[in-house]
Amino acid sequence: MIKLSDFSSIFIANWKLNGNIEFINEYYQKLLPNPNNCTIVCSPSIFLNRLKNNSNNIFSGAQDVSFYNEGAFTGELSAKMLSNENISFCLVGHSERRQHFKENNETINKKSINLIENNIIPIICVGETLQEKEKQMTKEILKKQINECSPINSNFENTIIAYEPIWAIGSGLTPTLEEIEEVHTFIKKIDTKYNKFKVLYGGSVKASNSGEINSLKNVDGCLVGGASLKVDEFNKIIS
Ligand code: PGA
Repeated sequence: MIKLSDFSSIFIANWKLNGNIEFINEYYQKLLPNPNNCTIVCSPSIFLNRLKNNSNNIFSGAQDVSFYNEGAFTGELSAKMLSNENISFCLVGHSERRQHFKENNETINKKSINLIENNIIPIICVGETLQEKEKQMTKEILKKQINECSPINSNFENTIIAYEPIWAIGSGLTPTLEEIEEVHTFIKKIDTKYNKFKVLYGGSVKASNSGEINSLKNVDGCLVGGASLKVDEFNKIIS
């Protein structure tokens, strides 16, 4: 398994349901990763095998994994299958999957267990809705999500947490820098177990705000959606 503590920052491109062969060829010709950081491209699963072998600490990550290990589950991909293809990372519990595919903390926990057992690092996504933020429930929601999603076998070397306020995803809105730092500090203090976890920020990250967000003490990198589809923009974010 990759040693997360070797990297100062981790940057993830979440392509979601985007990309094709021409796009990939151009993207990887132009991608300029910073070799001190870990850069993970989470592509649609059909492209994982094609993208897996890269130098300069560029890794390929899946966007989801099956809850099940094998059996009659048409359309699914297991953690073992990802591991057979040397995939090192996998997003779990992205808010789009919670919203559209009925993921919940229990399934996210089980998926994360399966991934860790197969030497794949789960990137566990958590975040509050706008209504929850307005009711000042952010910390309560995050504590419940993190405690229920993080499996018993998780630790700072085998698991990443991504804080993505749902209202910030794809909206152009972000919390203030003070709010991000406060939430990240809170997450690392939920339990001593989380002190050394890498906690990434996601939600409307772009070249113009990534520097100040990533310079916050308890932010260990960024999870980037829309802006990661433009390789020049993503290069500025990871540089
Ligand atoms: P965004 O998406 O950067 O487009 O807000 C982030 C995400 O969904 O991971």
